[in-house]
Amino acid sequence: MPPHSDLPPTVLVIFGGAGDLTRRKLVPALFNLFLDGRLPGPFTVLGVDRTALADNAFRGQLREGVEQFSRRGKPADADWNNFAGHLGYLQADLTAAKSYADLAERLRASAPQPGAPADHVFYLAVAPALIAVVADHLRQAGLVQDRARARLVVEKPFGHDLRSAQSLNADLLARLDESQIYRIDHYLGKETVQNILAFRFANSLFEPIWNRRYIDQVQITVAEAVGVGHRAGYYEKAGALRDMIQNHLLQVLCCIAMEPPVSFAADEVRSKKTDVLRAIRPIPSDQVAACAVRGQYGPGQEDGQAVPGYRQEPGVRPDSPTETYVALKLLVDNWRWQDVPFYLRTGKRLATRVSQVSIQFFPVPHRSFPPEAVRAWPSNRLLIGIQPREEILLRFQAKEPGPDLCLGPVYMHFSYEESFRKPTPEAYETLLLDVLRGDATLFMRADQVEAAWSVVEPVLEGWARQAPADFPNYAAGSWGPQAADELLARDRRRWQMPAAAGGETASTYYPGKKEHHG
Ligand code: BG6
Repeated sequence: MPPHSDLPPTVLVIFGGAGDLTRRKLVPALFNLFLDGRLPGPFTVLGVDRTALADNAFRGQLREGVEQFSRRGKPADADWNNFAGHLGYLQADLTAAKSYADLAERLRASAPQPGAPADHVFYLAVAPALIAVVADHLRQAGLVQDRARARLVVEKPFGHDLRSAQSLNADLLARLDESQIYRIDHYLGKETVQNILAFRFANSLFEPIWNRRYIDQVQITVAEAVGVGHRAGYYEKAGALRDMIQNHLLQVLCCIAMEPPVSFAADEVRSKKTDVLRAIRPIPSDQVAACAVRGQYGPGQEDGQAVPGYRQEPGVRPDSPTETYVALKLLVDNWRWQDVPFYLRTGKRLATRVSQVSIQFFPVPHRSFPPEAVRAWPSNRLLIGIQPREEILLRFQAKEPGPDLCLGPVYMHFSYEESFRKPTPEAYETLLLDVLRGDATLFMRADQVEAAWSVVEPVLEGWARQAPADFPNYAAGSWGPQAADELLARDRRRWQMPAAAGGETASTYYPGKKEHHG
């Protein structure tokens, strides 16, 4: 039996327990936490869903999920059997009051440590329309009144636009206290995203130059090679702006742009992030086309294989106006960032899977070295690799060895793999553990979610007013629509191409040399 943490006895109730998220993400993450001795000794996971499933069938389904999706691969029988003893299932209609009476009864009967009070975490992996319904029933059944012990975890999408997010917040806050609500944005659980704050605020080196006096521009790229897959039902109504920008990319932007927190208390960090969102200059309704580009993939090639366009994917309308790509230029109106553009882009079926932040510094104010002594003189750049390469790269000028004066760019490289030599936990492991601990730092507060919706709202409205005329406007396997290049070209800039996509590498300046990419 692995060791366990000294967290209080806990029951984790997963609504949508028979669904995909539970099988692919939640239970593999819980199993890893179990193996690492991070779960409470007495704990129970209770799946709740419409489907009729015996406890054993439920466990079998979850084991398959772990085998397929856990970073550790196939579990040893003994480990799995130990873990599976903590798993149970309850068939329920989430819209019926009786189900919650059954749930309350089951919670009483299966308390992980009979006689001792347990924490109850209710995880809503359900359709958005059910979130407020379940919260209301939980309240009525008396299951969330204990503010210290009952927590509610809400998956994205949190609302569909600003109004629906406000109304969902109002519904939840009428039934629970803000401190009980954990709104997930799984990007915040990624090690490389959390490390942005460590990099900035645990070092004295970078913070003094982390501002408009030294930084020329910031680019945030989250590129996916996969298409929409089988999620058209959801994605057709969402699109890339809602699916990725409103949450993940804006949260990464907040980590880059926020002021130093006074402490790492959850509300202090979240307030500083919310300040950034509030400082983002609202996009005027007549400027949407100048600041935002939308795209949709057509047929193309991925890894040498022909792949269909978005409109040919199962469940997608043949004339769908849904965007699978967004590029956005944002400005942050405050002392630190005035006039520094933040360029964001994300898309499906792009050339490669890569997420990175590129911080481009200004050129030196005076070039004192003679032009003939310089091989190339690109300005300093910091590249934060979020995935799949987890790394930080700093590009700077150096003198090549030799009797002649010759300068060129080199890279300082930090790699997680080389430095730590231990596997990186999945975002869901970090986030689930934080919920069990009651630490809300990496979760979205009500005002934070609403502020993020406010940023994208003018674009949503502008695009809703006018259907795209040129969809599909990029080929699967390419780098997105030409208009996204033009967005930067208007500012005399270019997207920073990841090395995997033919971007800069050390051999760009030193042919024949294999080194870290830039
Ligand atoms: C999800 C989106 O939130 O994030 C998906 O709904 C997207 O469309 C996914 O594919 C990307 O997450 P990751 O961790 O694979 O970058």
